[in-house]
Amino acid sequence: MNNSKLGNTSNVKEYDMAIERTLAIIKPDAVEQGYAGKILDDILGAGFKLLAIRQVHLTQAEAEAFYSVHRERPFFSSLVRFMTSGPCIPMALEKEDAIAGYRALIGATDPAEAADGTVRKKFAQNKERNAVHGSDSVENGQAEIGFFFTAKELLQG
Ligand code: CMP
Repeated sequence: MNNSKLGNTSNVKEYDMAIERTLAIIKPDAVEQGYAGKILDDILGAGFKLLAIRQVHLTQAEAEAFYSVHRERPFFSSLVRFMTSGPCIPMALEKEDAIAGYRALIGATDPAEAADGTVRKKFAQNKERNAVHGSDSVENGQAEIGFFFTAKELLQG
């Protein structure tokens, strides 16, 4: 029996982790306050590979479509107003375990609950104006990256 993989715990880690992609957005509050450079620095410093980046001013229809999963929530119209209030900076990121890693980097949705040193602790104002967005699953990451970027716009290789 070939059990070489079973006896080696460093291999087990390799099998658990996978290269993933996530959509990040530097939101209008952070762009307006001049935090985009510092936030990008935190993201790149954490080892994320930047596959694509742009600056966009979302229309109401685009913001409603992007956040359509939240359309029944009481904060939906306010969220759409906020996300259309100024330019934001979406980017496609890649890294091993990117979904969980990026969410750890940015911290809890509510900056009051975010850990020290996280992006939201440092730069967010409140639960809505929370500086950054991150995808919550590999599947949603793929869909959200597709919302802002074509396949050709993503860095290859
Ligand atoms: P985000 O990670 O982009 O996903 C949905 C967004 O809705 C969230 O960040 C916040 O900007 C906003 N949001 C989530 N919960 C609330 C809330 N309770 N009140 C206001 N805005 C919220």
